[in-house]
Amino acid sequence: MCNRRSAIVHRQLEDRIDNRKSSIVHPEVRIFDDLEHLSWAAATRFEEQARVKVIEKKPFFVALSGGSTPKLLYELLGGPTFAGRVRWPNVHCFQVDERCVPPDDPQSNYRMIRQALLASTPLPAENFHRMAAERPDREQAAREYADEMARVLRPAPGEWPRLDLVFLGMGPDGHTASLFPGSAALEERTAWVVPNFAPQLDSFRLTLTLPVLNAAAHVIFLVAGADKAERLLQVLKGPERRFPAQLIRPVQGRLSWFLDESAARLLKEQ
Ligand code: 6PG
Repeated sequence: MCNRRSAIVHRQLEDRIDNRKSSIVHPEVRIFDDLEHLSWAAATRFEEQARVKVIEKKPFFVALSGGSTPKLLYELLGGPTFAGRVRWPNVHCFQVDERCVPPDDPQSNYRMIRQALLASTPLPAENFHRMAAERPDREQAAREYADEMARVLRPAPGEWPRLDLVFLGMGPDGHTASLFPGSAALEERTAWVVPNFAPQLDSFRLTLTLPVLNAAAHVIFLVAGADKAERLLQVLKGPERRFPAQLIRPVQGRLSWFLDESAARLLKEQ
């Protein structure tokens, strides 16, 4: 893998894409042959940033998305190559969003993360901050999760909590986290965590809000699969602010797009 990893082809499209963007966001865009190479690069980025925090003698605060794309990344981080290279007691893991199902439900993001990462990683149990989205009082569950973030991240009064690294995905409809097109949470400007009704799914989710995601030091989108190509082209090259994924603009942070070939297919044709 080390030889194959160094053979990963990096194609920087950032200049062609970036010119259209305002000067606030200069996204890093990297295209990998496949999900495996993309996941290795994401795991390496995680490891690098975790090491910087150890050197700075600061905890490393990350937020993990659900869905299928990040699963291999989590398995790699929990696997032989990375598990030993990350100082896990220094890491705090939060959830980007959660489905309103019990934690052992097949739909649960926590269940996926537990099986792929936590089961094989010496992350102290108290350092994983689960979203209790199964609770009937979703507003209360959201408030309590914000309290937990405040307790651990300790932002200055009136400040947004600052995550060091956030992994996001993108749906074929351009949603990210559980911020779906046309959903109420897109307008949220004060709360850190909210329940959000997804009309497309006819169900509720708990999700971090845009201001919290945009307060992060580094946001990495992991996008793979041909079914994302059309939307990705519109999100990265089309008119701005049409899709939730386009509203991710770290105010004082980095934005990266890690793509596989099939998702980036149309981008390269431009
Ligand atoms: C979730 C996610 C969601 C996900 C996208 C992409 O709970 O489903 O947080 O935002 O990232 O739907 O999902 P895939 O990775 O499965 O394509």
